[in-house]
Amino acid sequence: MKKREFRSILITGGAGFIGSHLVRHMVQKYSQSKIINLDKLTYAGNLENLRDVEGKDNYIFERVCITDEKEVERVFQQHDPDLVIHLAAESHVDRSIVSPLEFVHTNTVGTANLLNQAKRHWQESDFAGKLFYQVSTDEVYGSLGPSGFFTEETRYDPRSPYSASKAGADHLVRAYFHTFHMPVVISNCSNNYGPFQFPEKLIPLIINNIRNQNELPVYGDGSNVRDWLHVTDHVKAIDLAAHMGIPGETYNVGGNNEYKNLTIVHTLCDLIDAKVGNAPGTSRSLIKFVKDRLGHDHRYAIDSTKITQGLGWSPAIKLKEGLSLTINWYFENSTWLENVTSGAYKDYYNKMYRTVEN
Ligand code: NAD
Ligand code: DAU
Repeated sequence: MKKREFRSILITGGAGFIGSHLVRHMVQKYSQSKIINLDKLTYAGNLENLRDVEGKDNYIFERVCITDEKEVERVFQQHDPDLVIHLAAESHVDRSIVSPLEFVHTNTVGTANLLNQAKRHWQESDFAGKLFYQVSTDEVYGSLGPSGFFTEETRYDPRSPYSASKAGADHLVRAYFHTFHMPVVISNCSNNYGPFQFPEKLIPLIINNIRNQNELPVYGDGSNVRDWLHVTDHVKAIDLAAHMGIPGETYNVGGNNEYKNLTIVHTLCDLIDAKVGNAPGTSRSLIKFVKDRLGHDHRYAIDSTKITQGLGWSPAIKLKEGLSLTINWYFENSTWLENVTSGAYKDYYNKMYRTVEN
């Protein structure tokens, strides 16, 4: 298939963890295209993640909520995107257990609003040269036993409010493909890790707690299994599938790095002890087994054959190397981490855009 070209690319959630890596990649690689970052800047949105991109000629930031009909319509009219890459979401499973409605509102209703605005804006041209790209998760497939993998044919079986709200969004994306013939691509990815991840997620939380000599909370007995992928490998998969993927198709993206949570925590402890010169076992002594997450999915594992064989994608960063790089980044960027944990990062928007915000 010929590589598609886009002149105006709207990325939602571009101030978050994966979104900021994607924005940086797209701004650098597609310097002739306009890259618009649409983000509400929730607690997870941080423009400090994009310091090196601010001021680039082809980069525009729009502080907009994806559920706001008028504002999203204005953005479509003003910037006329031909590609939408949709990442904006509430992304943390634990928070979805506390506030499910917020997840439905942002993840499901927000996606519906984006789809609707894209349809209104694109249908006159009969969707020629347009694409709506949905960044989804392997969690929509449910939970695996000790064997087997999720493929693109695996039936959706979401089990947390987060994954149910993402599944609802994916179904709407497919509905727009079938009902209105809007070109769409969906990718379902496994657990990402790397720089700029908010320290509520397992890997940055453990690194930050070791730095501060705090307890390392392991849910249940630590036997739950996740498949880990470095964020830059995910970004390359999104870029590839947006430009080469077949409309209407889904692509699973995974790192083939299945590990028990306890093994990941042990590895982080040992790598950090070696880095800072601690006696072996020092950081492991901080581990505390805590009450399990409600409805905790046991195991996720992804079969990435379709994107690997069909589009030529493969992950470049091996897990141990990626974890070392990530540890180094968090140790070298302690100001970022301290601004995030203290909340000071919220001031950056006001300084950059000179607006008084809550
Ligand atoms: P994140 O929580 O770090 O960032 C989410 C971003 O979305 C933030 O910048 C936030 O401000 C923005 N946002 C939230 N609500 C918004 C709204 N109503 N309007 C506009 N912007 C809003 O998330 P992440 O980990 O980078 O995940 C990004 C996407 O990738 C999500 O859709 C998630 O479901 C998906 N995903 C994540 C992973 C992972 O391991 N992190 C894996 C697979 C898929
Ligand atoms: O699989 C993709 C998903 O990965 C994404 O769709 C989500 O947006 C992303 O948050 C992530 O979900 P998880 O729930 O798997 O990630 P989290 O980092 O929260 O937890 C990873 C595992 O570690 C999970 O089994 C729960 C466990 N855990 C987590 C935390 C925060 C702990 O044992 N202790 C902790 O403190």
